[in-house]
Amino acid sequence: EDQRIAKISSAIRVIPDFPKPGIMFQDITTLLLEPKAFKDTIDLFVERYKDKNISVVAGIEARGFIFGPPIALSIGAKFVPMRKPKKLPGEVISEEYSLEYGTDKMEMHVGAVQSGERALIIDDLIATGGTLCAAIRLLERVGVEVVECACVIELPELKGRDRLGDKPLFVLVSAV
Ligand code: PRP
Ligand code: MG
Repeated sequence: EDQRIAKISSAIRVIPDFPKPGIMFQDITTLLLEPKAFKDTIDLFVERYKDKNISVVAGIEARGFIFGPPIALSIGAKFVPMRKPKKLPGEVISEEYSLEYGTDKMEMHVGAVQSGERALIIDDLIATGGTLCAAIRLLERVGVEVVECACVIELPELKGRDRLGDKPLFVLVSAV
């Protein structure tokens, strides 16, 4: 397990000063170029969630769309996209969240999930935690139980985990 995590960690490329000076960008596209490390990433989540009665994997646009669907297929759950505004054609519910500058919105189709379902939220990375918080609020507003949030990478310095309160967060790699 530690071996698998070490390989995943080293497959993630860090690009300094992208998109702005001072930001160390965690680039998961290099992880996707290594089929073994990519598969291990998915397997580690599947091993953790396969027997947890999860019926919904909610993936956050855009990079949560890379990791969410293979996990959903392997654990026999449906996949629900949490999208940027004005992308979903049906009736949506939406939730605002704050970014470094200004706010953004996340949307989900009404009827994609039912009250009482159990969800896992997947994204590539947690920074401030604002994005995951919006996803939690969206699902909880329609009566879905969010069992856990899971990301490949956490930036612990930004304390996003604290923002999630008592909602459990599982990550594979902590970026220092
Ligand atoms: C990044 C990342 C997470 C989010 C984390 O997405 O993929 O979704 O930021 O930030 P937070 O914890 O501070 O909210 P981004 O919005 O940059 O876009 P993308 O996934 O569409 O590339
Ligand atoms: Mg994202």
